[in-house]
Amino acid sequence: MSNKKIMLQMNGVSKIFPGVKALDKVNIKAYGGEVTALMGENGAGKSTLMNILSGVYKKDEGKIFIEGQEVDIKGIKSAEEYGVTIIHQELSLLNNLTIAENMFLGNEKFEKFTRRIKQDELVERSKTFLEQIGCEIDPNELVGNINVGEKQMIEIAKALTKNASIIIMDEPTTALTDKETKKLFGVIENLKKKGIAIVYISHRMEEIFSICDRVEVLRDGKYVGSAKIKDIDNDKLISMMVGRTIEDQFPYKEIKKGEKFLEVIDLCAKQGISNISFEVRAGEILGIAGLMGSGRTEVAKTIFGEYKKTGGRVKVKGKEVNIKSIGEAIKNGICYLSEDRKKEGCVLGLSIKENMSVCNLIKYEDKFKSIDLKKEIEDVDYYIKKINIKTPSRDQLIGNLSGGNQQKVILAKWLMLSPEILIVDEPTRGIDVGAKKEIYDLLNDLKAMGKAIVIISSDLSEVLGISDRIMVMSEGKVSGELSREEASQEEIMKLAVGIK
Ligand SMILES: Nc1ncnc2c1ncn2[C@@H]1O[C@H](COP(=O)(O)OP(=O)(O)OP(=O)(O)O)[C@@H](O)[C@H]1O
Ligand SMILES: [Mg+2]
Repeated sequence: MSNKKIMLQMNGVSKIFPGVKALDKVNIKAYGGEVTALMGENGAGKSTLMNILSGVYKKDEGKIFIEGQEVDIKGIKSAEEYGVTIIHQELSLLNNLTIAENMFLGNEKFEKFTRRIKQDELVERSKTFLEQIGCEIDPNELVGNINVGEKQMIEIAKALTKNASIIIMDEPTTALTDKETKKLFGVIENLKKKGIAIVYISHRMEEIFSICDRVEVLRDGKYVGSAKIKDIDNDKLISMMVGRTIEDQFPYKEIKKGEKFLEVIDLCAKQGISNISFEVRAGEILGIAGLMGSGRTEVAKTIFGEYKKTGGRVKVKGKEVNIKSIGEAIKNGICYLSEDRKKEGCVLGLSIKENMSVCNLIKYEDKFKSIDLKKEIEDVDYYIKKINIKTPSRDQLIGNLSGGNQQKVILAKWLMLSPEILIVDEPTRGIDVGAKKEIYDLLNDLKAMGKAIVIISSDLSEVLGISDRIMVMSEGKVSGELSREEASQEEIMKLAVGIK
């Protein structure tokens, strides 16, 4: 038995949202000096449970104990007083404040007489916390000017300022580079040494096995069980989460390739890409690998008309096109699934149905120029079922869905258009293992229908698993191309870091 002390116990916790029993008598515990993984499929209730612990939501029933004492968490401030802090799944920093101001928001110190915020002190204090996580950004910088990965690091530094004894991390690495993830893991090791209890949520299985000590599993809002990480393996954990085993995580089928659907020749753009050349044929999936910042997204956005090309040519089905806007790209049969779902992917105030069909309305126009609602609903329901979008109804606001389920809706939106050329950027970010496989199946279906697909992904096993060919980028250029047979993690990494 471990001599570690139980820091947190949640017993019989339930929560109902209109039409959804998000949590049904859930029990979990977390020990000091350990990382407890909280696992489960998209919509299983992980974020809801942690939002209750951190005072964002009120529980309907159940008890919470911290260091053996029952606590009554009344709100966010009250949770902080009990030593609980959370790094949210969706980032919540304010863009028009500086990093330092964000880090101490609500916890500022004031000048005695003027009651003004002590700015210098704020900056100094921020620096010490940023140093702890090896983050070198100037705390005077506006948060609006930094990228998602940096924002995530600031959220982590901010959590450290709270001096918490329980730290919740809800998918902290989805936007981080490998290097930043390593830094975060170093920080977590230090927190463990201080006896802090960490609750860690992630869909990246390898992370669970590398930093977690125990795992608590939820399924459909219910508690399934817990285990010590050293006592279980990948398959066992997956079957606890999804209630079955998953065979053939990366389904692959070679099919006969057709004509060149997309040809990119010497493409350049001010966003730091130069002389990009590649082609994708009908019935083919091209993987694009590379480190974050290598220019993969920039290539996609330039083809998609979001960035202006400063040189080079793009051909669609052999014909040169000059795409200057997203609308023109879609007209030319090109769709792009963005990696940043909150900023570019969805309209939070619209329903699932509206989000899915917003680009597709033309497809449902009947001969009287009105929308064929029956057909629209049929398609929407097909995708809800196919990729298992967890929702009480197609009319639910997308903002009320769990993170992974929002991602599924946006992917479905593009799949519905059934574009000739589909570019997907980190399509399975935040998606659970079961749904990942469904998404690969859908991409393979499109391939079998003779579409051309480009998949940009930082998940090497995913790129290796489903691509016919892999192009690797490094510092804004193509550093090499590998056939399915040649490709391996090592070969890709060599090209990604620029070793010839
Ligand atoms: N504010 C809300 N209103 C209505 N339903 C909600 C709300 N927040 C969450 N839900 C529902 O509660 C359930 C649990 O959602 P939760 O966000 O806790 O899932 P999760 O396990 O964190 O999933 P993911 O891995 O996708 O982040 C889902 O069915 C979700 O749609
Ligand atoms: Mg969540």
